[in-house]
Amino acid sequence: NITPVILSGGSGTRLWPLSRETYPKQFLALTGTQTMLQSTWHRVAAVAAHGPLVIANEAHRFVAAEQLQQAGAEPQAIILEPMGRNTAPAIAVAALEATRQGDDPLLLVLPSDHVVADEAAFHVAVRLASAAADAGKLVTFGIVPTGPETGYGYIKAAPGSGARPVERFVEKPDLDTATAYVASGQYLWNSGMFLFRASRYLEELARFNPAMLERSRSAWENARRDADFTRLDAEAFAAVPSDSIDYAVMEKTADAVVVALDAGWSDVGSWTALRDVTPRDGEGNAHHGDVIAIDCRNTYAYGERLVALIGLDDVIVVATDDAVLVGRADRMQEVKDVVARLKAEG
Ligand code: GDD
Ligand code: MG
Repeated sequence: NITPVILSGGSGTRLWPLSRETYPKQFLALTGTQTMLQSTWHRVAAVAAHGPLVIANEAHRFVAAEQLQQAGAEPQAIILEPMGRNTAPAIAVAALEATRQGDDPLLLVLPSDHVVADEAAFHVAVRLASAAADAGKLVTFGIVPTGPETGYGYIKAAPGSGARPVERFVEKPDLDTATAYVASGQYLWNSGMFLFRASRYLEELARFNPAMLERSRSAWENARRDADFTRLDAEAFAAVPSDSIDYAVMEKTADAVVVALDAGWSDVGSWTALRDVTPRDGEGNAHHGDVIAIDCRNTYAYGERLVALIGLDDVIVVATDDAVLVGRADRMQEVKDVVARLKAEG
């Protein structure tokens, strides 16, 4: 009895100039014909008992609803946030919604902007996790790290197999700490996907941050519902403290377990990450749109217009209607600095 909870509130600026505040990456078809939101639903449909609970920003209600309908998702509810309060309140509201008829389903919490290449392996991991979640555990899905990435949560798992107790969960450590964790071979990355009983999440949040739960509850109880959307009460939601599930619950709970996931997972956190999950030619080039590459290796080009590349290695080129990005593949994290400068210059 799994209810998918799809988190679709992010604003995804790291894929500028394609991903914008008005059109973040979950609504884009970056790797195929489906948008990332639609792929998220398709990935989970096989293990879901019914349609998803989707939590999105009010500004994106039409694009979210239309894409879900196109994908045949039949959401149980599309819950709208007047502003972002990060993932812990969003999941709280989903858990309240899921339990409102007295049910207590397993919630499979999924970011809407990740890629999972091997869906069968993902389903096996979810089934393995279900038994632990049924028994009251908060399950995370862990990824074998490939480097000291500081944008992730790190999980130290007890030795063994299957659903292993989490000995320690550290969200976004600094570089030295992350380097030591990776070198130890004992840590996994947190994928940001979770499985737990709705009531267990609410219990843990009540224990660690009762104010967050009570204010989220008030925003949800005073929500306005129509045929399409559940609109959280703006005044009440504005008073909810902002925090992620990782800091608010997963670092603190004694009941976390981790199931390893080896399924070609990527959170597509940069253009370089997108290159790495896009099918490549014999020279390692991955292209989207109308692109001609001569004597190039490991390039990625995204063209909304015709793009031609000559003699380039490890270069990213993104050409949209109103902006062009060109840069080295190993420096694509700095796209956020471009966005910051654009914001500063208004
Ligand atoms: N509805 C809603 N409201 N969704 C949100 C909000 C919000 O206020 N904030 C973020 N989200 C969505 C994002 O769209 C994304 O799909 C997901 O929740 C995770 O948020 P991120 O902001 O992308 O988190 P992160 O990447 O910094 O860190 C998380 O993911 C990592 C793996 O990608 C953490 O769980 C880390 O521990 C993890 O390693
Ligand atoms: Mg993320």
